[in-house]
Amino acid sequence: MTEAHKESSARKAVEFVESGMIVGLGSGSTAIYAVREIARKLKQGELSGILGVPTSLEVEHQAAELGIPLTTLEDHPPVDLTIDGADEVDPQLDLIKGGGGALLREKILAQASQREIIVVDETKLSDHLGTRFALPVEVLPFGWAPEADYLKSLGASVSLRKTPSGEPAVTDQGNWILDAEFGPIEDPAALAEQLDRRAAVAAHGLFLGLATDLIVGGRDGVRHEKRP
Ligand code: A5P
Repeated sequence: MTEAHKESSARKAVEFVESGMIVGLGSGSTAIYAVREIARKLKQGELSGILGVPTSLEVEHQAAELGIPLTTLEDHPPVDLTIDGADEVDPQLDLIKGGGGALLREKILAQASQREIIVVDETKLSDHLGTRFALPVEVLPFGWAPEADYLKSLGASVSLRKTPSGEPAVTDQGNWILDAEFGPIEDPAALAEQLDRRAAVAAHGLFLGLATDLIVGGRDGVRHEKRP
């Protein structure tokens, strides 16, 4: 059922894509449905002149295989709209992202986009960020240990994300990821500021004030909310 909800939410978001737009292509198992739908519409002539900016190497390959022409932030700023997933969404449309490890590029795209449409199934909704998902923090390998200690000093239990073979998982930028379990985060803005000040933190998964739209697929159909 969840897959159908992910798909319905992503397909709804693609209704906002217009011919000629520069479109940020999100990463993850929900956003891929949007990438496929854009490719379908391009093939069938329902859309034309779309250029995609991928948020990860994985989606770059997927989009290229599906025949979506790609561009870069240098050649085509700003991005008209980005469609991306999330791991947790609160009632203010603030997010935790980074479960798939693409948080840094995703945040760059979100900040460079006029519209950031988040597509989720209803299991991602939460009253308080941190309740359902650990906060991913992308760190430079050189400084991962002091950043892990810093996160612990803030009250998190911290684990270094590993591959199935036990090696540190490496991001597209060559960094590592700490998953910081805080439980419900009382003041996400204060935590984001603290993390933004740390030298070895390349990005953290708190996306505050960046989503303009939320599309939720669920048992009762598809719901579209805009940032108040
Ligand atoms: C990728 O790094 C993430 O931010 C994803 O957008 C997020 O994990 C959602 O992924 P799913 O749609 O696969 O749950």
